[in-house]
Amino acid sequence: EANERESLYLVNEFANTYFQKILHKTDPGKAIGLSYFKERGFTNETINTFNLGYSLDEWQAFTDEALKKGYQLEFLEKTGLTIVKEEKRFDRFKGRVMFPIHSMSGRILGFGGRILGADKKAAKYLNSPESEVYHKSKILYGLFHAKQSIAKEDNCYLVEGYTDVIQFHQTGIKNVVASSGTALSPEQIRLINRLTKNITVLFDGDAAGIRASVRGIDLILEQGMNVKVCSFPNGEDPDSFARQNSLNELSAYLDENAKDFIQFKASLLVQDAKNDPIKKADTIREIVNSIAKIPDPIKREIYVKECSNIMDISENVLFSTLAQIGKKET
Ligand code: CTP
Ligand code: MN
Ligand code: MN
Ligand code: MN
Ligand code: MN
Repeated sequence: EANERESLYLVNEFANTYFQKILHKTDPGKAIGLSYFKERGFTNETINTFNLGYSLDEWQAFTDEALKKGYQLEFLEKTGLTIVKEEKRFDRFKGRVMFPIHSMSGRILGFGGRILGADKKAAKYLNSPESEVYHKSKILYGLFHAKQSIAKEDNCYLVEGYTDVIQFHQTGIKNVVASSGTALSPEQIRLINRLTKNITVLFDGDAAGIRASVRGIDLILEQGMNVKVCSFPNGEDPDSFARQNSLNELSAYLDENAKDFIQFKASLLVQDAKNDPIKKADTIREIVNSIAKIPDPIKREIYVKECSNIMDISENVLFSTLAQIGKKET
């Protein structure tokens, strides 16, 4: 219901202002939160652009302040900012640096909070729970700040995390959004599809990142979009890589290493086992499965030719495999 949604936005927007005030104006905010962001290389301008904040390491500092300002407990609870347990009230976010999540039009949908210390039992990031305004699988972090650049550059970089988006921005690449660690969803891709037909996937340089890239490819192709993948050296993510490089270096790396999906899938095989015919057959089948997702028959044909060249297999075999997949799906 529209009224309820508006009430949740207002609570989130109060919290957004509050967490920023704590970061900039209180001793723990400055000593812990602000110095954390500075250590990560974020400038004041960046911190302000993304409305980064800090939540005090206290049980109900935020909730008390919000109630005092007249916000209703019902909506504090529905945003997940306050947890009510046996008549007691607790702040969800305690002692975390705060990343507000903006809608396409700049409203605050929810928050991600990152732990600072080395508390291994707590999750590194804690996010707002699902609510009337926060649907994790339908949100892309950074879209509000990126939408103009995505349209202008006619390309969107897709990363995993909050800090990847922020560090890219600071380095000078603004057409970037994050799936925020969830498995990429069709709704998330549709949000990009309205702005550009071109996505470059930049997931972390670890096994999980590579798996997620492979899964994302077919979903992007299904929507008739073009997809490239650019990997990072082992252990690096877009944030750590951008931090070590200038804009020129970063742009050159992306241009030189972005591969179309066939080359990307083929290169995974090369790393795996170049001379193993069974693995090679599996890879070819995988590539053809992806090609089958492409709605446009002209593009399909072009990719079949590319696959034939790269994998050294006849186009005829690929076309008949493609036809078999088509039959199975109808
Ligand atoms: N994430 C999450 N909950 C976790 C871990 C991760 O929601 N427990 C989401 C966050 O949005 C995070 C993204 O997944 O930004 C990517 O995770 P990861 O690569 O582990 O974190 P980074 O973004 O690299 O964060 P940092 O550099 O601060 O470690
Ligand atoms: Mn990761
Ligand atoms: Mn990461
Ligand atoms: Mn990181
Ligand atoms: Mn940089």
